[in-house]
Amino acid sequence: MLDQRSSNIITVKAHTNIALIKYWGKRNESLFLPMNSSLSLTLDQFYTMTTVQFCKGLNEDVFIFNKAIAGEAETKKVSKFLNRIRKMAGSELHAIVKSINKVPTAAGFASSASGYAALAAAAAKAIGLDVNQTVLSQIARQGSGSASRSIFGGFVEWKKGLKDDGSDCYSLQIAGEQYWDIRILSVLLTTEEKLVSSREGMKRTVETSPFYQEWVLEAEKDLQEAKTAIKERNFERLGRVAEANALKMHATTLGANPPFLYWQPGTLAVVNQVQRLRNTGIPAYFTIDAGPNVKVLCLPENEQVIKEKLLSVPGVRDILVCHPGPGVTYTSDSI
Ligand code: DP6
Repeated sequence: MLDQRSSNIITVKAHTNIALIKYWGKRNESLFLPMNSSLSLTLDQFYTMTTVQFCKGLNEDVFIFNKAIAGEAETKKVSKFLNRIRKMAGSELHAIVKSINKVPTAAGFASSASGYAALAAAAAKAIGLDVNQTVLSQIARQGSGSASRSIFGGFVEWKKGLKDDGSDCYSLQIAGEQYWDIRILSVLLTTEEKLVSSREGMKRTVETSPFYQEWVLEAEKDLQEAKTAIKERNFERLGRVAEANALKMHATTLGANPPFLYWQPGTLAVVNQVQRLRNTGIPAYFTIDAGPNVKVLCLPENEQVIKEKLLSVPGVRDILVCHPGPGVTYTSDSI
């Protein structure tokens, strides 16, 4: 019986992912069931490393984030998530959780994706749950939807499922990280916290935007197009649909009540530069999450020239070049 003693210390590294077909809207908020299926690429540059140990004699969960004791609100979120895992395992032990985040938080880089993917994988293993990656994707989803996709490397589809209990809602890898060498340039404009979180933004959009129903229909069509493009390794085809899908997602926010927009002047300046590059025959496509920063898809041979052009855009502070990255990995590195 696990509760008679403390668990092993388990450390997991999980990477962020960028959605090429966006998840935008929930059909069930407490189970994190999405309205539409989505598709992402896991990235090699940004990650979270998390260590979990369930300890006998501990009265509450302890959360240490970036080497400092986390605040009450953050610790509560971790505890709420661990409660789901404790319930699955039939355990009442509390845990010491240590996390290091190598992701610029809350600026359109999905730190919650790598965060909950790492926490799900580490906590499940520490508590002794014998689960495969499909089930892990379902557990991670209940911390943050996009975390479901970060369980896997490379190109990942998150199936929305139809059932009320979420049993047919999970992620799966459609192509591994070695499959296709494309690049994502992460263009950093700001590290300021955004005004409307993705959680609040998608909720408001589902409830009030007259464009929302169309979004759901379009997203399903875009997903099929993106899967075909990946199968063919057709870069233009994938870039076109990813860019169009991001624009449709952002269009729904303009119709919400009250309306909102994640873009800043620098966002549009980068978008214009990408379009100019394309007009000169250089294939580059943008995508934007729930924040002002832009990610640009390109091929390795054009990485340098695109990077230089984008660095000259006013407001651009930095560019990080990402490659397709791996899924969750267990490690013995200590943090
Ligand atoms: C725009 O996964 O952060 O990045 O499930 O409420 O935690 P919650 O939302 P989250 O939303 C991500 C939204 C997005 C698109 C995407 O990653 O698919």
